[in-house]
Amino acid sequence: MKIKMKSKNICCIGAGYVGGPTMAVIASKCPNYKITVVDIDSKRIDLWNGDLHRLPVYEPGLKEVIDATRGKNLFFSNDIDKEIRQADIIFMAVNTPTKTEGKGKGMATDLRFVEKCAERIAKMSLSDKIIVEKSTAPIGTAKRIKEILKLNSKNIKFEIVSNPEFLAEGTAINDLLYPDRILVGSDETPSGKMASKVIVDIYKHWVPENKIITTNLWSSELSKLASNAFLAQRISSINSLSALCDESGANIKEVSRAIGSDSRIGDKFLEASVGFGGSCFKKDILNLVYLCKFYGLNEVAEYWHQVIKINQFQKERFSQRILTILDSDISNQTISILGWAFKKNTNDSRESASIDISSNLLKKDANLNIYDPMVKSSKVKKDLVENLKNQGLSMKEIDTKLLRVRFFDNINDSIKNTDCIAIMTEWDEFKNINIDEISKVTSKKIFIADGRNILNPKNIESSKVKYISVGNSKF
Ligand code: NAD
Ligand code: UGA
Repeated sequence: MKIKMKSKNICCIGAGYVGGPTMAVIASKCPNYKITVVDIDSKRIDLWNGDLHRLPVYEPGLKEVIDATRGKNLFFSNDIDKEIRQADIIFMAVNTPTKTEGKGKGMATDLRFVEKCAERIAKMSLSDKIIVEKSTAPIGTAKRIKEILKLNSKNIKFEIVSNPEFLAEGTAINDLLYPDRILVGSDETPSGKMASKVIVDIYKHWVPENKIITTNLWSSELSKLASNAFLAQRISSINSLSALCDESGANIKEVSRAIGSDSRIGDKFLEASVGFGGSCFKKDILNLVYLCKFYGLNEVAEYWHQVIKINQFQKERFSQRILTILDSDISNQTISILGWAFKKNTNDSRESASIDISSNLLKKDANLNIYDPMVKSSKVKKDLVENLKNQGLSMKEIDTKLLRVRFFDNINDSIKNTDCIAIMTEWDEFKNINIDEISKVTSKKIFIADGRNILNPKNIESSKVKYISVGNSKF
């Protein structure tokens, strides 16, 4: 293969939550590399090239890294073909959602976007290249990419490397700067190992060598799915116990602390919640379940599927608890929904528990006041319409439901004169809700359903406020 070991020209296809921040950090740590991020969504590229306060992805610390690198060795472009041709290394960071039609519908990964990229790379390339599978994809995807590249090109050699991303949204920049590990999977052939070394060399600019793990392609692909499955499994485990706490009088925070103090278990990812959201946990576990079924491992498939079922149960349970506490004609009551993002410090609402829970409440004709510091109201509306449509409501019915929704740009107005405040996202500003102020302006009793256990019940319980948490409220 004619790959230069000193390859310095990188193209990243996909300018999303992974492509943008990851390439920005690589650019900042590797000033001798030229990196261009491309996307079929030209509006997204324009936003990356525009005002630093209006970047398409919100992440703490991101605008500073973009400011330091953009126009120097980091570029955002719509000219995909030109950038493919010029690159020695191409990262694929495109979306890999769950299939919505065809074989494996609702479970298997839709590899359409990855396959389209591979076809385009094959057709446009005039020189040998290393293709990096950054997207999360099922075992065997690298093999599929290889086949497509071979089928659609002539006399060009491609080497495929799997380099899954482990960043979490809201902490992406920190995760990229100080990763727990970097995983690089490749073919175990001499040229495969050489390609692996080229990718490892990029990360060696700032990541200690003992944190860089090299494996074969299949192990790398499976490790990414398995890591997400393990993380989500912990949340479903603690959420399942929160249901038992609510019934029995045990306190999930105390239980969580007691479990997490065992150094073999560890204390992270044991926070009971309204249910996990985000674009990846659900789709990646469904993909794992599909793979297990494909290999005839039905018991293993069912084991992992339960993680998703418990998450759905938790969201339904939280909706039902709100309906139960309000206990009368819900169409005369207003619920303040605090938080639309699936976690704090991101503008991403994909698979957010807020969407399912708000839809459940709207279906029962509740009035909703919605506020999130980062997610735009147009996005909230779009999420609701899509969710209600998927539940079989007609556009006419949805429009009627949406008349019950009001959007706010600040917390104080959104909680004024409501019957229930439902905390969905753990944004820091929600920790300081001014209960005294709320009590002053209303004569009725207010319920606070704290879906993130961020408030201290001792500070807020009063004759006017009834506090309900996840995993410590028998009622
Ligand atoms: P995203 O939807 O934010 O971004 C993907 C981008 O790819 C979009 O802008 C889309 O327009 C572009 N795209 C799709 N097909 C294209 C094509 N053929 N040519 C050019 N551009 C194309 O997705 P994301 O959240 O960045 O996730 C990307 C991948 O990374 C997924 O596989 C995901 O599972 C994985 N991942 C995501 C996260 C995360 O926190 N979001 C973390 C780790 C891994
Ligand atoms: C997750 C993983 O943490 C990343 O390592 C991975 O790279 C990424 O998925 C991916 O592949 O997309 P992310 O979804 O961005 O990252 O955010 P998390 O911090 O994992 O949170 C996911 C959801 O779980 C959020 O809704 C969060 O509020 C919830 N959560 C998290 C809990 O309910 N309890 C917890 O204890 C922790």
